[in-house]
Amino acid sequence: ADTPRFAIAIDGPAASGKSTLARRLAQRLGLVMVNSGAMYRAVTWKALQENIDPADSAAVVAMLDRISIHCGETGMTSTITIDGVDPGDELRAEAINSNVSAISAIPEVRTLLVDLQRNYLDHTSVIMEGRDIGSVVFPDTPFKIYVDADEAVRSARRSHVGEVDSVAKRDAADSERKHAPLVVAEGAVVLDTSHHTIESGVDAAIEILKQQGLPL
Ligand code: DC
Repeated sequence: ADTPRFAIAIDGPAASGKSTLARRLAQRLGLVMVNSGAMYRAVTWKALQENIDPADSAAVVAMLDRISIHCGETGMTSTITIDGVDPGDELRAEAINSNVSAISAIPEVRTLLVDLQRNYLDHTSVIMEGRDIGSVVFPDTPFKIYVDADEAVRSARRSHVGEVDSVAKRDAADSERKHAPLVVAEGAVVLDTSHHTIESGVDAAIEILKQQGLPL
């Protein structure tokens, strides 16, 4: 009961293999895995439901005051509801893919969601996956991995998930935005998954975490 809680930060661009890696790592280590992108997607989903233009940041910020967002977990998987509703698979819709970067560039959205992300440590240790987890959400954690892959490998993975153009656009927007852009956080070790299988990537991640001092 006295074991100190900790966060493992997994950041990287879309189609880098980061989600799969984080999920498998969480299974191996028996930790809750939090997909922070789902939170940005859920706010985007709500804005679109309310016919709010994602480019109209004042309207988005006004919406934040009206809605209630709850984050938790079922077993080892993070959950999210907005006004009691779990958007489920709708979070993966193309309309969300093409609007989520605009929503996630709004500072007030980030402040709200970063708080909810940090709150997980009030009750559990986590592996959290995103863009700014090691740089902004948990800058003091020693456990940080930045997942990347060759452009060729990433485009192949992109076409596999059926979103080629929007992923490239999203990565550019997420890397170039003013607030909390995608960066290799201080202290993060870069893990290139281009030539890894899923299992060997997980093994490599575990080696990195051991070197970073995780007692495994
Ligand atoms: O991980 P994902 O592709 O589901 O994330 C969707 C979008 O959410 C991503 O394009 C940018 C935003 N995002 C963010 O700004 N910060 C995070 N920590 C995670 C996601």
